Amino acid sequence: MKGIILAGGSGTRLSPSTDSMNKHLLPVYDKPMIYYPLSVLMLGGIKEVMIISTPEDIARFEMLLGDGSALGIQIAYQEQTEPKGIPEAFILAEDFIGKDDVTLILADNIFFGQGFTTLLRNAIKNHKHATVFGYRVKDAERFGVVEFDHHQKAISIEEKPEDPKSDFAVTGLYIYDSRAVQIAKKLKPSERGELEITDLNKEYLKWNQLHVELLGRGFAWMDAGTQESLFDAAEFIKTTQQRQGFKIACLEEIAFYLGYISREVLHEKGKSMEKTDYGQYLMEIANRKHSQQYWDTIDHHPMLGLVENE
Ligand code: G1P
Repeated sequence: MKGIILAGGSGTRLSPSTDSMNKHLLPVYDKPMIYYPLSVLMLGGIKEVMIISTPEDIARFEMLLGDGSALGIQIAYQEQTEPKGIPEAFILAEDFIGKDDVTLILADNIFFGQGFTTLLRNAIKNHKHATVFGYRVKDAERFGVVEFDHHQKAISIEEKPEDPKSDFAVTGLYIYDSRAVQIAKKLKPSERGELEITDLNKEYLKWNQLHVELLGRGFAWMDAGTQESLFDAAEFIKTTQQRQGFKIACLEEIAFYLGYISREVLHEKGKSMEKTDYGQYLMEIANRKHSQQYWDTIDHHPMLGLVENE
């Protein structure tokens, strides 16, 4: 399974904050926005990731995440010269995807909830053809909307319908087989001049091959695409983290618990930013005895087979 993070776009809805900077590098409380989608791919067990962004911004992402080796994963970069829509990611990543399945996540999407790792790992393991994740929202008309029957089987899917047939938005997390590349190539731009992910999903639906996985009320799904939603997301992260003492989307913590990096590397990374709460958090984990037990209590076991570095 390959992973793609689409971090392109012009970010005009966040101007002037994004006039000189890619939106996905802005902080959501205490870490850059892109940490959140990358944490999702890592928790899903995906180790080969491609970040797609504008030619101007690629270097900044590289400065932040390098080739991924510091996290025990591989990160490749691909330019998208113009924002031509989500499915273009598959065309740009054709060689990277090869014959593999692929999980795509939009770089401004934040997922949080008890059991999310298990749900995602199961979705990846059982996945055939195409899987999308539905989430109930109050303003479905702002999103792709999926309608399904009693067996959770998709019946229709529409992009930003005036009159939504259900309250379930299609989130920015998608799993496809490698046919997505060829399907994307045949799509025609919509009225807004972009290839639409909903049109790609419609193709799978036509063949009865679109599976919908629902995220229940215990999950939080947020997109941080506007000033308001960015602020809301930051508040949510701050409140949750401060109450629990766990960080959300702390990539080094995840890499450590997945057994990708050693306790020493984790400690060193923390030390390199010891003046920050983030750095102190990493050192605290590195110094903690019985880390495995600790991790078990917070959702992620037993299917993962984590941490040999006790
Ligand atoms: C895009 C997709 C839409 C999906 C949404 C999730 O919308 O077109 O189907 O529900 O992402 O964030 P856009 O961000 O282009 O408005």
